[in-house]
Amino acid sequence: MQLSVVVPTFNEAPNVAELVRRVALAVRDIEAEIVFVDDSTDDTPAVIRQVAATAPLPVRLIHRESPTGGLGGAVVAGFKAAESDVCVVMDGDLQHPPEDIPALLHRHRRGDVDLVVASRYVGDGDAGGLADRSRVLVSRGSTLLTKAMFPIKLRDVTDPMTGFFLVDRRAIDLDTLRPRGFKILLEILARKVMRVAELPFRFADRHAGESKASFAQGLHFLAQLTALRFGKMSLFAIIGGLGAIANLVIMWALIRFGVEYVTAAIISAEVTIIANFLAQERFVFHDMRGSATSGVWTRFAKAALFNNLELVVRIPVITLLVHTWHISSVIAAGITLLVAFVVRFVFNSLVVYRQTDAAKQPSAVQPRDAAEGVDTV
Ligand code: GDD
Ligand code: MN
Repeated sequence: MQLSVVVPTFNEAPNVAELVRRVALAVRDIEAEIVFVDDSTDDTPAVIRQVAATAPLPVRLIHRESPTGGLGGAVVAGFKAAESDVCVVMDGDLQHPPEDIPALLHRHRRGDVDLVVASRYVGDGDAGGLADRSRVLVSRGSTLLTKAMFPIKLRDVTDPMTGFFLVDRRAIDLDTLRPRGFKILLEILARKVMRVAELPFRFADRHAGESKASFAQGLHFLAQLTALRFGKMSLFAIIGGLGAIANLVIMWALIRFGVEYVTAAIISAEVTIIANFLAQERFVFHDMRGSATSGVWTRFAKAALFNNLELVVRIPVITLLVHTWHISSVIAAGITLLVAFVVRFVFNSLVVYRQTDAAKQPSAVQPRDAAEGVDTV
């Protein structure tokens, strides 16, 4: 087998037959297979099986009963199942033209790169298939932000967000990847310095059906980016910082509506504590929830208790600092906030999301630790 074409699918039934037909035609001179990794809730698996029966090349289906990692998780599952080390990843909706596959393969066969990226933003590449102006803006903006965060690893890549690329799986360490959502290429590129080439391609319109991109995917992307670049602690800090701003805004609004200021401060603090817990749970500690010793309500109780204690303790500490060190109250408050932040992070990691003994075994710990400070450039 010279090539495995990995196609993640989520409810793409009307696209399967046409995709297989065009891929088969494009790779007719190559020994290739198609691996569908499917998380669908509709009849897509049945359609894939039916198309596979008469396809001119091997078509395999991995249907994931309990999908993890979304689109990216599906791609990694595809890499693991592929017959060939050389894998092309493409979407199942024909926005990525199968006719470009041979060009990706030929570029790889020159032997000087591990990854060939099909880019919308190089040469006569084209992002025409992006649904509307706002998607174009989001795509452009997030590409810029990502390149700014990984200036060296992404030096040769104009389109780190593309879902169309060829990779030699021997060049990636599958176990260090932590796929979450759409940006699997970014995950691969950010983990390790890779030898990369790019080829232009025209991002086409969807053949049928609708995009599964969503606002939630956008949030996942931002979380992924921050975690890749700075590790857990800075993501924690950003969410905490946003929480602090929200706290003040809510307090200000309540006071404007005539609520007395101490009451306003308490209400806004409690609202922020709850929102903050939910955000940390979803974006920062999502990979530690499953193997934590306590359930979600206990975790919430611990976090809420800690934050309320912190609130109560910080005030007298500020007074103490002002009186003994004779520094301004604002600086004193700043110092306590900083110390509280570090303590809170440690408390969350070690107490709220305390891991079961089984999860602490080296094999389970490694992929998680590998996420921290990975970009060493
Ligand atoms: N298995 C699986 N699981 N597949 C999924 C999932 C999932 O949770 N979510 C989406 N997919 C599949 C879709 O069925 C489709 O085949 C492919 O992943 C891409 O999803 P789309 O819904 O078509 O996304 P898009 O067109 O908005 O975005 C694509 O193009 C962008 C620009 O190149 C993706 O490839 C993005 O990653 C890419 O940035
Ligand atoms: Mn698409």
